[in-house]
Amino acid sequence: MNEIILGIESSCDETAAALCKDGEIISNSIATQSIHEKYGGVVPELASRAHQKNIIPILNDCLEQNSVKIQDINAIAYTQGPGLLGALLVGSSFAKGLAAALGIPIIPINHMKAHVLAHFIEEPKPRFPFLCLTISGGHTQIVKVTNYHEMEVIGTTIDDAVGEAFDKCAKIMGLGYPGGPRVDKLATDGDPNRFSFSQSNMANLDYSFSGIKTAFLYFIRDQSKINPNFLEENLNDLAASIQQTLIDMLFVKLKLAAATTNIHQIAIAGGVSANSGIRRRLNEEAQRMKWTVFIPKFEYCTDNAAMIAIAGHYMYKDGIFGKLTDSPKARMSF
Ligand code: KG4
Ligand code: ZN
Repeated sequence: MNEIILGIESSCDETAAALCKDGEIISNSIATQSIHEKYGGVVPELASRAHQKNIIPILNDCLEQNSVKIQDINAIAYTQGPGLLGALLVGSSFAKGLAAALGIPIIPINHMKAHVLAHFIEEPKPRFPFLCLTISGGHTQIVKVTNYHEMEVIGTTIDDAVGEAFDKCAKIMGLGYPGGPRVDKLATDGDPNRFSFSQSNMANLDYSFSGIKTAFLYFIRDQSKINPNFLEENLNDLAASIQQTLIDMLFVKLKLAAATTNIHQIAIAGGVSANSGIRRRLNEEAQRMKWTVFIPKFEYCTDNAAMIAIAGHYMYKDGIFGKLTDSPKARMSF
């Protein structure tokens, strides 16, 4: 059949392109924008400009990785949302322009669904239905996945996302941006049981992460009054303890979701699923709870275009296409 789908991702601070040939990822290119580091977070306007600068070199790199000619592409899948509107506009306008020039269809992709579908890039692939804990800088969701297109959010955060909690706690510790990976690294050499922080407990399968960062901030502020070097002397233990608290909070609800839906195939997705503590805990729970678990490769956890291309592949197969008049969406439900 030979169907080649180009995937384009530009929802936040990664400009990425990937090619999917008959359901297999054959090239995957990414440019991470380092400009935001000095501002302690993503600056939307700078992200849009960097996407404009990066998008053609990234596409060329992606084509060259497998000597694919642009005329060989059958359809272009692009991230329609959710994300930063200016950043999405760059990717979606580029995708539409290129598709119009080549006379091929375009496929708008929901970024959060694509994080879930990243599980279909490589073996082992989950069977339907499965649950996916989708955790990123903007989302914390327990998703019930019925098929490639039908997904239902059965639990979500009512305030901050868990990635935001990681990033904010990292900022409190003076670790800079992005904080999640830095907390993870420090936690490796820390004692997770040294400090404890009270956890919020929401009704049903929902989460709340805004209280925990305030508790963390006040704890460090109070301890620093007693010992001005408290933070520097305890960085590893603080990182390990806050990481463990966040992981505990995630798993309380995930276990409840598995019990109430009676679904025991459990996947994780999104940038925070790169966290080594979460990956370890999921494997431990798999043993304890008799779950079959799915943990994607690091490069498919954080934002990437391979997940957009694979999502495009399943839309293409089922004949689901977009129009040139589709607009990017900063907010987008499942
Ligand atoms: O999915 P993603 O790349 O971007 C979106 O938000 O869509 O997720 C980014 C988030 C950031 O909050 C970052 O700190 C977090 O993922 N993150 C991590 C780790 N790697 C990335 N958080 C904890 N541990 C990590 N190893
Ligand atoms: Zn993402």
